[in-house]
Amino acid sequence: MLPVVVVQGGAGYVPSEKSKASRAGVCAAARSGYVVLQSGGSSMDAVVEAVTKLENNPNFNAGCGSVLTTNGNVEMDAIVMDGKTLACGAVSAVRNIANPVQLARLVMDKTSHNCLTAHGANQFARAMGVPEVPQESLITEYSRMRWRKNLADDPNTAESQMGKMGTVGAVAVDIEGNVACATSTGGILNKMEGRVGDTPCIGCGGFADNQVGAVSTTGHGEAIMKVTLARLILFHMEQGQSAEAASDLGLAYMKSRVQGLAGVVTLDPHGHWAARFTSPQMAWAAAQKDTLHYGLLAGERFTQGIDEP
Ligand code: GLY
Repeated sequence: MLPVVVVQGGAGYVPSEKSKASRAGVCAAARSGYVVLQSGGSSMDAVVEAVTKLENNPNFNAGCGSVLTTNGNVEMDAIVMDGKTLACGAVSAVRNIANPVQLARLVMDKTSHNCLTAHGANQFARAMGVPEVPQESLITEYSRMRWRKNLADDPNTAESQMGKMGTVGAVAVDIEGNVACATSTGGILNKMEGRVGDTPCIGCGGFADNQVGAVSTTGHGEAIMKVTLARLILFHMEQGQSAEAASDLGLAYMKSRVQGLAGVVTLDPHGHWAARFTSPQMAWAAAQKDTLHYGLLAGERFTQGIDEP
C-alpha cells in the first residue's frame, strides 16, 4: 500500500475551459510528490514538493494565481504538519513570496513558533534568504478579471462563494509509515486585507498525526474553521471510521451545521486514502503502487499508469 500521495486543487467551481488544465495540474503534482516518496523521501518532503508544484501553476488559487483582496493585493496562507512529531509550521497574510508552503516549512524547522503572520512572516522570509517576488508575478489576467467582476457580486450566496474559493493541498504517507499534510491558498476572492482563513490554522486547513492519519482541506474558510474540519475528520477515524467515511461525516456535518461546502484529501498510515467534496467540483489526484487516480467532477475517477501521459 505504501507510499501514497493525494493532492487537491481546490473545492469550488472550475469553468469548463479550465477543467483540462486543472486535471493535468493535480496529476503533475501527485507525480512529483510520488517521485520523492519512491526515492525514499519523507512524507513531509513529498507534500511540500507537490504543493510547490501547485503554487507555481497559475491555474490554482495559491502562489501564482492567487485570488486578490478587495484592494487588489495578494495575501497568502499556508500550513505544513508532520504526523511523527506533530510539529507544525504556518504563515498567514504573507505577501511577495512565490512559495508560501516552503516558508511554512521553514517556520516549522527554524523557529520555536507554529505560525508567523503578515509583516513578521515577510521579515522572517528575508532573514532566511527567501527571495521576494514582485506582486505582479503572482497575479494572473484571470485573477484580475475575477476580482473586477466579483466586486459587483452579492457575496452572501453559496453560488457566489463557490466561484471565489480554492486552495491547494496534499497528504502523504512514506515508506516508514509517517504521514504529513501541506495546504496553501490565496484565500477567498475579494477578502478584506488581513483576513486569515482556515488554511494556516492547525486542525482546520490540515492536520497530521501518525496515530490516526492526515487531512488537507479546501473550501469556505470561515465555515471550515467553525467545525475544525481536518481534526473533526480525524476524530471520526479515531472512532473507527475509514478515511472515506470519516471525510464524508465531517463534510456532511459542516454542510448541515454551518451551511458550508468544502473538500478534503485524507489518508491513514496504512495507505487507505479518500478525496471527497460537497462542492460542485474538486480537482484531485492520488499516486499509489505506480498508478495514478484522478478526477474533478462528482463521481469522476480516472485511473492510469503513473508514467502514462
Ligand atoms: N480555504 C481557504 C480559505 O478560505 O482561505
